[in-house]
Amino acid sequence: MGVLEDKARARTFYKYLSTVYDRINPFIWNEEMRDEAIDWLGIDSDDRVLDVGCGTGFATEGLLRETEHVYSLDQSPHQLSKAYEKFGKRGPVQFHMGDAERLPFADDSFDIVWSSGSIEYWPNPVDALRECRRVAKPGGRVLIVGPDYPNNTVFQKVADAIMLFYDEAEADRMFEEAGFDSFEHYIQQASANSPRAITTIADVPE
Ligand SMILES: C[S@@+](CC[C@H](N)C(=O)[O-])C[C@H]1O[C@@H](n2cnc3c(N)ncnc32)[C@H](O)[C@@H]1O
Repeated sequence: MGVLEDKARARTFYKYLSTVYDRINPFIWNEEMRDEAIDWLGIDSDDRVLDVGCGTGFATEGLLRETEHVYSLDQSPHQLSKAYEKFGKRGPVQFHMGDAERLPFADDSFDIVWSSGSIEYWPNPVDALRECRRVAKPGGRVLIVGPDYPNNTVFQKVADAIMLFYDEAEADRMFEEAGFDSFEHYIQQASANSPRAITTIADVPE
C-alpha cells in the first residue's frame, strides 16, 4: 500500500496541496480531458450527479454545466474550502464532507457517480467502488478516473510506494469485484510527457 493510501495522511497532504492544487493540476488532468470524459457520459439536464473526491471543484465545475443537480463530496476540509470559494458553501452545489468508502447517501440516489483523481488515495478501492454502485441508480453509470500504471520499472516502484496506480487488468479485477459486469476503459494524457490517466465507465446493473 502506498504512503498516501491512508486517509489521515491524504488529508494532511491536501491541507498543503489545496493551496496550489488548481495551478498544478492542469499538467496532469486538464479541462480538455475533463470535458472529453464528461462528453462520454452524455449527461441529461435533469440527471442527479455525485462527484466523489471533488477536491477544489475542478470536475464539479464541468459537471455543473450539464445539470443543476450536482452533489460533491470530499474528505479534506481544506480542499472543500477552496471549492466553497468558487461556488459558495450553500450555492448551486450540494457539498458534503465525507468518505468515499461510506457515502452518506441512500441507495439508488444518482444517475451518474463521477470520481476523478481520487481512487488512488482510497485504501480500499473495491469497497468505495461498491459504494459508488450502491448510491447509483440501476441503469445509471459510474465514471472513475485514476492514474494509469507506468510502463517503466523505475517509475513503477516509485508509483507503488506512493499510491494506487493501475492498468486495465487491475481495473477489470476491481470493477468486477465491486459488482460491475459491463465497463470500458479509456486512456487520456495531457501531453506526451505527462502521466496517463485511466478512465473507466461502468454501467450500473439493473
Ligand atoms: C487529486 S484530487 C482530485 C480533485 C478533483 N476530483 C479533480 O478532478 O480535480 C483528489 C481528492 O480526493 C480526495 N480524497 C482522497 N481520499 C478520499 C476519500 N477516502 N474520501 C473522499 N475524498 C477523498 C482528496 O481530499 C482530494 O481532494
